[in-house]
Amino acid sequence: MTDKTSNQMWGGRFAAGPDAIMEAINASIGFDQRMAAQDIAGSRAHADMLAATGVLSDSDAAAIREGLLTVLSEIETGQFVFSTALEDIHMNVEARLKEIIGEPAGRLHTARSRNDQVATDFRLWVRDQMDAAMAGIAALQRGFLAQAEAGADWVMPGFTHLQTAQPVTWGHHMMAYVEMLGRDHSRFADARARMNESPLGSAALAGTGFPIDREMTAKALGFDRPTANSLDAVSDRDFALEYLSCASICAMHLSRFAEELVIWSSAQFRFVKMSDKWSTGSSIMPQKRNPDAAELIRAKIGRIFGANVALMMVMKGLPLAYSKDMQEDKEQVFDAADNLMLALAAMTGMVGDMTANRAAMQAAAGAGFSTATDLADWLVRALGLPFREAHHVTGTLVGMAEARGCDLPDLALEDMQSVHAGITADVFGVLGVENSVASRMSYGGTAPAQVRAQVARWKDRLG
Ligand code: ARG
Repeated sequence: MTDKTSNQMWGGRFAAGPDAIMEAINASIGFDQRMAAQDIAGSRAHADMLAATGVLSDSDAAAIREGLLTVLSEIETGQFVFSTALEDIHMNVEARLKEIIGEPAGRLHTARSRNDQVATDFRLWVRDQMDAAMAGIAALQRGFLAQAEAGADWVMPGFTHLQTAQPVTWGHHMMAYVEMLGRDHSRFADARARMNESPLGSAALAGTGFPIDREMTAKALGFDRPTANSLDAVSDRDFALEYLSCASICAMHLSRFAEELVIWSSAQFRFVKMSDKWSTGSSIMPQKRNPDAAELIRAKIGRIFGANVALMMVMKGLPLAYSKDMQEDKEQVFDAADNLMLALAAMTGMVGDMTANRAAMQAAAGAGFSTATDLADWLVRALGLPFREAHHVTGTLVGMAEARGCDLPDLALEDMQSVHAGITADVFGVLGVENSVASRMSYGGTAPAQVRAQVARWKDRLG
């Protein structure tokens, strides 16, 4: 008989239970209960396989399978009482199974260890999150696409160094994010394909002497195949790190657009108006409409990338195979996943609701001599000037306009001819911002026709 206070899973060689602080540092049930559904799915597949290979009797396997469903429904309905003394989700489930079905519960752990069990559960959990992230990304892409379609030819300033550079179209700017998110999606898809192998049956670290069928459990759990090295399978968390790095890059993209929203919704820019649903007021300044959600999305990258770095540090010094350090993997990934999904949902809401201020963007697009490059290009095309000389002539004309406090199209033809005699009235055709964007017809350029072609391509892809 084992001592009542020692652990019921390994109490055989322990005379006493753990110190309370030992229990506190050791337990993961406070967070790994989020993997209950994955744990039970893994155990059901394992029991089935043990019966099919003759390791377990059919009646024991059936009792286990049934009992596990009862445990699952107790957890889902909130009736399950989690115990810190039972350390983690694996032992909590097994102990409850024993209470429900008795002796056969003790046979479930044949040919298995918590090491391959946790590796399996966590892969299943991360795989679900990769799928959720891909769906969230596609929803956000559709939001950007709708904005791009509505404003394919709305003119706005394009910036470099946040200084007005050349006019672009609203649709083109929106489509830039569709491209970024498309790569985020494909990064998650690549990572998912790479991680979709089943660790189950690797046991503690060396495999097992029981005649198990790893193909069978892999298939039952939706994995493409079993992992090919048991040491690797129980001891790497690169799949979680790939999730975190894909999430970090995606969050970085969200953060950049969030920053643009903060700038664009300011009174100085007024390029977009966020709906009331996505704005907050100030308790003291009645005029304020603050873009809090955008600011928080901008901040999320900090904790998501922090999780990535933290798990890297946890893993980097661990000899093969399993070490308890690895229990620290889950909270990082859980927190990052919750926040990535929240950020994606909030951004999808904001993008769907925001209104672009076409007039304000149009007015700003023409300011700051934004068509100077068009003028230089015209000098090259129409007069055959070398680009360097055209650049110089244009620079002189910009200086002239600046001194007079007017814009380039406001200069008289004679003034222009005083700088270069060959200039004709045709030049005015390229100076307006509409002309400027319409001329950018190179593939992937900002011309409305190019933007519409990209919108059509992505609509096709996103369905
Ligand atoms: N709760 C543990 C974890 O998350 C499960 C694996 C425990 N394995 C062990 N050999 N102590 O990593």
